[in-house]
Amino acid sequence: MKEIALFVGILFQLSILSSAESNGFTVDLIHIDSPLSPFYNSSMTQSDVLINAAFDSISRAESFSLNIDQNSDETITIPNKGTYLMAFYIGTIPRGLLAVADTGSDLTWIQCLPCTKCYNQRLPIFDPRKSYTFNLVRCANSLCKKVRRNACGIFGDCRYKVDYASKSSTQGNVATDTISFNNSYDGYSKLKFGVDTQKNRTGVITTPLVSLNPSTYYYLSLDSVSVNGKVLKPNESSFGNIIIDSGATITFLKTSWYEKIEAAVLEAIGRQSVAVRNPIRPFRLCYKDGSITNFPTITLRFYATLNDLKLSTMNIFVTLGHLTCFAILPTEKISIIGNLLQVFFNIEYDLEDRTVSFAKANCLKE
Ligand SMILES: *[C@@H]1O[C@H](CO)[C@@H](O)[C@H](O)[C@H]1NC(C)=O
Ligand SMILES: *[C@@H]1O[C@H](CO)[C@@H](O)[C@H](O)[C@H]1NC(C)=O
Ligand SMILES: *[C@@H]1O[C@H](CO)[C@@H](O)[C@H](O)[C@H]1NC(C)=O
Ligand SMILES: *[C@@H]1O[C@H](CO)[C@@H](O)[C@H](O)[C@H]1NC(C)=O
Repeated sequence: MKEIALFVGILFQLSILSSAESNGFTVDLIHIDSPLSPFYNSSMTQSDVLINAAFDSISRAESFSLNIDQNSDETITIPNKGTYLMAFYIGTIPRGLLAVADTGSDLTWIQCLPCTKCYNQRLPIFDPRKSYTFNLVRCANSLCKKVRRNACGIFGDCRYKVDYASKSSTQGNVATDTISFNNSYDGYSKLKFGVDTQKNRTGVITTPLVSLNPSTYYYLSLDSVSVNGKVLKPNESSFGNIIIDSGATITFLKTSWYEKIEAAVLEAIGRQSVAVRNPIRPFRLCYKDGSITNFPTITLRFYATLNDLKLSTMNIFVTLGHLTCFAILPTEKISIIGNLLQVFFNIEYDLEDRTVSFAKANCLKE
């Protein structure tokens, strides 16, 4: 997949900030395995989808920790897949495109004409010569320095290169252009931009974002997990101990911590329900579907918050055919809050105040 591509010189984070001045707008997120997605495979069962998503989450966790171990902001390997897609328009006259909306990556790039090594895409490839607002970024421009692994081209143009976990890569010119979005009004998953979209949140739990390398990721501090009121703390310091991620489906916790939580879950569910160990890789703890009568109440306590975040059963248990499985897995690498755990919450990233906050979402109304 060594394609020549264009990096749109607006970091995703900056575009959120600039829109905060306006009233805000809402964009639909398309789940990659839903019928609206071009990657939808109708012969896959819900269990196939979840099992694949769990394995993808594991390889994502591996690429994150590889980048963290390198402890550098210079080179970064980006996971191949995300979970959510979003449509946007680029250029003047605007051209519609679909891209992965991913908190585990901070460059926005698209394929551009002319290109010799483009992969097939369903929508027409963007032709910058037809956009009045398109501008190449020069390497003297401060915007060029914001791009990881930037380089100066022979004409003084700013160039970028990004490596993916599958050993594929993308490279091309850094440029600026206008991006626009369809405002959404229906019931799907949403990505909201701007403060005005967030006025009616209640019971908000706010925790600081932690600055660590690589700065790409959103690090939080998770102090403890409670199972039916039993408080379970990590062995190590909680400072920046977990990444909140849109692309991983499964949640991962450090093995020593996970084991305490798993033991508490087993105990809370009780012996009248018979646990099935390691029935389907990579899931570890399952029960015959319908056999759990006491689902435990699981809550999260983030650093500097007064209240716990109470999870729904659907945030932590998944149905795989005739089994109900615990959807948290142990890891020797970095802990990650996956997107399944984020369902039913309105999660705000405030990049000015450097906080992340959680509120209950009314998914049917918002
Ligand atoms: C769709 O899913 C089926 C069942 O898992 C699989 O055999 C097939 O290869 C998939 N097709 C594509 C195009 O990925
Ligand atoms: C924007 O909305 C219109 C009308 O619903 C639709 O036809 C079009 O495909 C949408 N464009 C994008 C980029 O989502
Ligand atoms: C907030 O609630 C008020 C009253 O219910 C409603 O009129 C308004 O549209 C809501 N705003 C948002 C951004 O949801
Ligand atoms: C974690 O802490 C517990 C006691 O708090 C201890 O028994 C256990 O050995 C520790 N595990 C690791 C991997 O450090």
